[in-house]
Amino acid sequence: MIDAATQVFAVMGNPVNHSLSPVMFNQAFAETGSNGVYVAFQVTAIGDGVSAMRSLGIKGASITIPHKVSILDFLDELDPIAKRIGAVNTVINHEGCLKGYNSDCLGAVRALEEITRLEGKRVAIIGAGGAARAIGSGVKSRRSELTIINRTVSNGEKLAAALEANFIPISELRSLPFDILIHTASVGMTPHIHQSPVPDALLTPDILVMDIVYAPLKTRLLKDAENAGCQTINGLAMFIHQAAFQFELWTQSPAPIAVMKQSLIDALNNPRKNHS
Ligand code: ATR
Repeated sequence: MIDAATQVFAVMGNPVNHSLSPVMFNQAFAETGSNGVYVAFQVTAIGDGVSAMRSLGIKGASITIPHKVSILDFLDELDPIAKRIGAVNTVINHEGCLKGYNSDCLGAVRALEEITRLEGKRVAIIGAGGAARAIGSGVKSRRSELTIINRTVSNGEKLAAALEANFIPISELRSLPFDILIHTASVGMTPHIHQSPVPDALLTPDILVMDIVYAPLKTRLLKDAENAGCQTINGLAMFIHQAAFQFELWTQSPAPIAVMKQSLIDALNNPRKNHS
């Protein structure tokens, strides 16, 4: 029931019309009895989006492509993790003071720590973009030994230096001497579902393989990993845990994780009903 006290939350990005966040958060608000509503705003200039948060009293926002870095110039405060990563995907409006966080970092760590400890593990991240930076930062905070694997050497070397990690060009990958392999690029995403970032012959059963791609839920990489006997974590895990962090930040109450997960699975299984 929307009334005069309803708090407004939003995802701001471009494009946003395929975002699964509105379905997930509105079900979470309904489940917990929170008087909130979550909508998608297609925003071209993020400074205008931030002004709208201030003038309309929008309580919180998820920030997505392409605004995660450019929004830093418009916020009043930054959480230290977001500051270190240099990217924000979560904003809370504390009576006009807008503070930015990075929930990708915490979401990835929570998704991994559901399954395993990170301390002392050999972790490899494929990709050197914003997601790799956020996840790598979280992984490093748990004192694991990090290696960046990337297609473009200069991008990979730059991120590896920033995170105090090792670097291997993807073209030179001959084995995977790692405990955990995390894919953060877009290889294998719909419609390129037959592509994988690594040859299946390199996968050995002792590696935990995580893919942040969630369309499809079971990527070629995860299928190959399962066939090789590996434990796997699909792209929903990080997406849900980063959203749970946002929900908790905004509402100060525990996120209904099971309901959020089911709403995403339903939305992915019924794309025409929920995606458009
Ligand atoms: P995000 O912010 O989502 O991480 P991004 O900043 O565009 O996205 O970064 C994408 C990463 O995926 C990059 O590391 C990119 O590799 P390059 O540095 O070589 O560009 C990687 N990537 C994207 N498509 C790829 C592909 N087909 N094969 C290998 N790596 C790919």
